[in-house]
Amino acid sequence: MLFQCPKLTPLQSRFAASCAALLMLGIIYWSLSSPHFAYAAELEVDGSGRSRGGDDHNWHRIEQQMLEDDGVAQGDGKRSSVLVGRAVTPQAISGNDAPNLLNIQAGTTTLWEYPKALLASSKATTGPGLPSELDQKRDVEPQHAELRKRQDSSSETKTIFVSINTCLQPTWNGTGVQTAAPPQLTLYVSTESGNTDLGPNGQSQIIQPLQEGFANVSLEASGDWYMSVHAPALPDGFVGVWNYELAVSINAYYHAADPTDPFLYLVDTDNDSALLVTNNLTQMDSSSSVFKEWMNTSAPFIMFGANVNHTSTMGIMSSYCGWSNAKQIAANQQDLGGISSNVQMGMITRGLGNKPKEQFYMRDLNGSSQYNGVLAMAGNSTDSGSGVVGGGGKIWQTVNWTTKADGNCALLFNLTFCDEVAYAVPSNPTSEYANITKMQELFDNYTSVSYQQFNYSLQQIPCNTTSDAQYSLAKSCTDCAAAYKEWLCAVSIPRCDDFSTSQSKAPWLQPRNMGQASLITGSLLPDDLLYQNYTPMDKAPTLQGSPAYKQTYISSLATNSSRNPLIDEKIMPGPYKEVLPCEDLCYSLVQSCPASLGFGCPFPGRGLEAGYGKRSTNGTITCSYLGAVYDISAGDRLFAPMFKAVVLAGLVALVVGFA
Ligand SMILES: *[C@@H]1O[C@H](CO)[C@@H](O)[C@H](O)[C@H]1NC(C)=O
Ligand SMILES: *[C@@H]1O[C@H](CO)[C@@H](O)[C@H](O)[C@H]1NC(C)=O
Ligand SMILES: *[C@@H]1O[C@H](CO)[C@@H](O)[C@H](O)[C@H]1NC(C)=O
Ligand SMILES: *[C@@H]1O[C@H](CO)[C@@H](O)[C@H](O)[C@H]1NC(C)=O
Ligand SMILES: *[C@@H]1O[C@H](CO)[C@@H](O)[C@H](O)[C@H]1NC(C)=O
Ligand SMILES: *[C@@H]1O[C@H](CO)[C@@H](O)[C@H](O)[C@H]1NC(C)=O
Ligand SMILES: *[C@@H]1O[C@H](CO)[C@@H](O)[C@H](O)[C@H]1NC(C)=O
Ligand SMILES: *[C@@H]1O[C@H](CO)[C@@H](O)[C@H](O)[C@H]1NC(C)=O
Ligand SMILES: *[C@@H]1O[C@H](CO)[C@@H](O)[C@H](O)[C@H]1NC(C)=O
Ligand SMILES: *[C@@H]1O[C@H](CO)[C@@H](O)[C@H](O)[C@H]1NC(C)=O
Ligand SMILES: *[C@@H]1O[C@H](CO)[C@@H](O)[C@H](O)[C@H]1NC(C)=O
Ligand SMILES: *[C@@H]1O[C@H](CO)[C@@H](O)[C@H](O)[C@H]1NC(C)=O
Repeated sequence: MLFQCPKLTPLQSRFAASCAALLMLGIIYWSLSSPHFAYAAELEVDGSGRSRGGDDHNWHRIEQQMLEDDGVAQGDGKRSSVLVGRAVTPQAISGNDAPNLLNIQAGTTTLWEYPKALLASSKATTGPGLPSELDQKRDVEPQHAELRKRQDSSSETKTIFVSINTCLQPTWNGTGVQTAAPPQLTLYVSTESGNTDLGPNGQSQIIQPLQEGFANVSLEASGDWYMSVHAPALPDGFVGVWNYELAVSINAYYHAADPTDPFLYLVDTDNDSALLVTNNLTQMDSSSSVFKEWMNTSAPFIMFGANVNHTSTMGIMSSYCGWSNAKQIAANQQDLGGISSNVQMGMITRGLGNKPKEQFYMRDLNGSSQYNGVLAMAGNSTDSGSGVVGGGGKIWQTVNWTTKADGNCALLFNLTFCDEVAYAVPSNPTSEYANITKMQELFDNYTSVSYQQFNYSLQQIPCNTTSDAQYSLAKSCTDCAAAYKEWLCAVSIPRCDDFSTSQSKAPWLQPRNMGQASLITGSLLPDDLLYQNYTPMDKAPTLQGSPAYKQTYISSLATNSSRNPLIDEKIMPGPYKEVLPCEDLCYSLVQSCPASLGFGCPFPGRGLEAGYGKRSTNGTITCSYLGAVYDISAGDRLFAPMFKAVVLAGLVALVVGFA
């Protein structure tokens, strides 16, 4: 057994003490004389077009009619006999909470009318909503509430919510690769009743250029209210028209976007799949009804994704309508649980805090490719489209990920014992463990057997006695067992990363199995790399000829084996890099368990660096811990430096590395 003292049998009450003594002897002996010491310790290891400028209003109508004749516009042309203001024929907004789709050509402006009849209609009744609000900071206050209300006693004043999504954009027909999105449309909303002088040369208007295909404006309205959408001139290389969806409502925005919060985190990738989870959907505890309701919802969110080179997503990243046309990959309600689809979705509680989250498992991706993805909500999550308040959907901030290049790391999750494990592990597509079910069984068997042995020793400790007989007032056996389980899972199931790519040169990655032939190329690494000097322990005693300073990548077990021999025996993954377990997992084990169990951690410069990693606060996963996701602050889990000093001073023995 790699991670613990030899053979624990029940009732071997002196196990812990003797084991610790044995380890101590071993360390003293090895550090002075044996080349194996290194081995042992390491193992722990726009131009604004002016088409409508001036008075050319008829031109606009003609163009509009042309589009409608072409069958591309869905506007209601029948209202054209009603001339408003300066003889521009507006398109009529068809209803509250309804999408109004229209094509628009470069350099043109379309005027829209929100008639007072719609303003006067009564508020829609909405459903109960999702089990809880996603974020408390959500403002429902109208953004332009300060705008003056019209003094027209005949008409009622109400807040209206105007929102727009770009659905289609002009396409690239230039030479070379498209490097920029086509320019964005602009939404103009009047600030006065009856004002139709809207657009680039208009007046009394709110000007809201779309951002990534989305804009929203809310204000107090009365009487007939107008807004317009303007398309800029097209830069060289682009051809075609835009298509957009404009909606006005007295209830709430039809379209939504949150460009500042992704609400979605990358867990890990392998060479053809990616695992992502939403943020916690609630912080309530598991006995609460909100918690249960979330777990009983059927995947409330969906996801859209595309390769970064998929240029049609450029410029519509905040548009639900845009994404639903330009996507490459989509997880939608039909894919729910469907093993045949390439995105699997489901509710989980795995991860920090064990709160409800939705998980997305995307497959059939390309290797070593960068992807963009967004969390999305179709309509209000249970219903969408015309007549549904918020029926136009919501898009969150873009998340990106890069798939791995090498084929010897495989995403592993859904384990039975180490149920918090969700990351790529060393794998081998030519072994029987290419079958992920087999891989799950292998690690489940191994870790549960190890845990059982630990549990026998723990039963020798007075845990459930009166407090003065307990080994510690601060820590109980339950804490010890939890710390051991977390440590065991993180240490025996190593987190795998590419060996060869440029991003795999990160300093926190520990090379493993360098002497094995690559599964991809079938050949060994070059000799000049293998025979490079490698010093895993820079504070080893500098005795004459100390072997600690004479190691190479191929001779050092830290770089030429896996920390868990099971991997080399059964999986044989070839060279890979390991994201080392976080050192605080080891410190927590030592702190939580009775000293008589003899746990200890390697010292800095004496094996710690080759066995354990340090957490970073910048969102990069620089060491492996259960529940890790990218781009989230690990701050609250950081180890208190004071405690660390205490542990280091009080260590008795090394916890790992003896067979
Ligand atoms: C979505 O809208 C429909 C129709 O208005 C309503 O029945 C349903 O309860 C709403 N769902 C949520 C989650 O608000
Ligand atoms: C796109 O470019 C090709 C060649 O440059 C040209 O023949 C074609 O007419 C262009 N298409 C449009 C719609 O302008
Ligand atoms: C309007 O859109 C912005 C994003 O551009 C968003 O922050 C804001 O919450 C939206 N307003 C509402 C009420 O949704
Ligand atoms: C995608 O873009 C990257 C970087 O611009 C480039 O190296 C790669 O070859 C492109 N892939 C495809 C399939 O076009
Ligand atoms: C979820 O909540 C826990 C605390 O309950 C927190 O530590 C964690 O960072 C939150 N987010 C995610 C994605 O885990
Ligand atoms: C996401 O994109 C940024 C900027 O393009 C890049 O620096 C970062 O590495 C990407 N993240 C991933 C996980 O690919
Ligand atoms: C991923 O790696 C496996 C094993 O090397 C290989 O068979 C497969 O083709 C790779 N997939 C991609 C998308 O590169
Ligand atoms: C993970 O487990 C859940 C529930 O047991 C199951 O629905 C899902 O298909 C599993 N996913 C994979 C990839 O095994
Ligand atoms: C993987 O192994 C499991 C059980 O060991 C078996 O039921 C399943 O059919 C295997 N899957 C494949 C694709 O071989
Ligand atoms: C796991 O253990 C069970 C029961 O001991 C055994 O049947 C199964 O073959 C083992 N699986 C692996 C992958 O070792
Ligand atoms: C201590 O008692 C608790 C509950 O009373 C029990 O769950 C736990 O297994 C006991 N621990 C040991 C080591 O006996
Ligand atoms: C994040 O922090 C680690 C060290 O903790 C550092 O090596 C890495 O370069 C940092 N990454 C970024 C993107 O700042």
